[in-house]
Amino acid sequence: MNILLLGGGGREHALAWKLAQSPSLRKLFAGPGNPGIAECATCVTLDAGDHEAVAEFCKDRQIDLVVVGPEAPLVDGLADSLRAEGIAVFGPSKAAAQLEGSKAFTKALCDRAGIPTAAYVRSSSEDAAQAALQKFGLPVVIKADGLAAGKGVIVAQTHEQARQAVADMFAGGFGAAGQEIVIEAFLEGEEASFFAITDGKTVVPFGSAQDHKRVGDGDTGPNTGGMGAYSPAPVLTEALTGQVMREIVEPTVAAMAAEGMPYSGVLYAGLMLTAEGPQLIEYNCRFGDPECQVLMMRFEGDMAALMLATAQGRLAEAELPVFSEQTALTVVMAANGYPASPEKGGVIAGIDRAKATGATLFHAGTARDGDHLVAAGGRVLNVAALGTSVTEAKQRTYDGVDAIAFPGGFARGDIGWREVEREARRG
Ligand code: AMP
Ligand code: GLY
Repeated sequence: MNILLLGGGGREHALAWKLAQSPSLRKLFAGPGNPGIAECATCVTLDAGDHEAVAEFCKDRQIDLVVVGPEAPLVDGLADSLRAEGIAVFGPSKAAAQLEGSKAFTKALCDRAGIPTAAYVRSSSEDAAQAALQKFGLPVVIKADGLAAGKGVIVAQTHEQARQAVADMFAGGFGAAGQEIVIEAFLEGEEASFFAITDGKTVVPFGSAQDHKRVGDGDTGPNTGGMGAYSPAPVLTEALTGQVMREIVEPTVAAMAAEGMPYSGVLYAGLMLTAEGPQLIEYNCRFGDPECQVLMMRFEGDMAALMLATAQGRLAEAELPVFSEQTALTVVMAANGYPASPEKGGVIAGIDRAKATGATLFHAGTARDGDHLVAAGGRVLNVAALGTSVTEAKQRTYDGVDAIAFPGGFARGDIGWREVEREARRG
């Protein structure tokens, strides 16, 4: 089959790398792609916001499946536009993508379907929101309703911070995303990410991971899109995975179908593992970045066939996803100044040396500048490796990181620390 993959980050490079290994793939196009993706796909200039142009490209190049990497085009209804033209899409409709696009939508769905999640109040007026804060203890979590590129969540430690966060959101600090807000009780526990693939009827687990959202070692500094991840997440035991499927993911998929918004694609559940059991923090309607990179490192099946079966509503007939028993770990190399104001243009060298260590490299925000590879985004490069433990995967990944010369960038040095400590304690 011919596939068009939309996006151009590390997540999409990992998807392109895995799709290119699919026996059922004929030709892979990526729009816009990046210099790493160009090694396994034909990169084309396409604006995912121009639905007609994407549909036209698909017809010209006889595309059998469009895989949408990022959330924005899905929330914007690209999948609906393409399906209306008879083109198969891996990714949810606009209505189903509300699971990521609107936090208030997801909270209300959790109420209707009895899905465990933090107690909340939604509000579209500042006065009502400030009054509602009185009902919550501390810390308290304030969220802009809409997409805010991962920045629309404030965990307030004091009443003054909470009051200020509410005021900032209604003052337009998060644009249209903050015209409606959700105030939530703070959940105590360890966070983990769980992935499932569904065609709206059948749901299959697609692995777990743990991300590192803060920019600095020891989980310090501002939040980022994610500085590194590993998969699987041992904290999500088989028993907990079963509970997450039964209590969170399956009821969500069933409710979406029953309400006429069948969800198709990958469903990414951000979970808090609390003393009372797993609770849903949020849904995303796409793969995580960099969680996707570690999932693709471990996935052993035909990704193209799995995605097409999902897009065509035939997931029940598809082979169940099979993953390597090994742990995959990835470290994000970011440009100096990330996340606030990443420096562009920093030269990156040593890619071949890093690959010679056995590591796998995914480009996230790179560009070619003459003979040089340079930084062209906040998160620039992902180095990944497999190992028999988190400790071993970490060692192998950092061997690759150490081989890269990127004076204009940095990486966290402690990705995987929670599990590395647990593994050391277990001996
Ligand atoms: P979200 O964008 O909803 O994933 O929120 C971003 C981050 O804020 C999460 O990864 C959590 O670390 C934190 N967070 C969000 N909601 C809660 C909550 N109810 N309790 C504790 N932490 C939360
Ligand atoms: N790494 C977090 C996310 O993709 O949302």
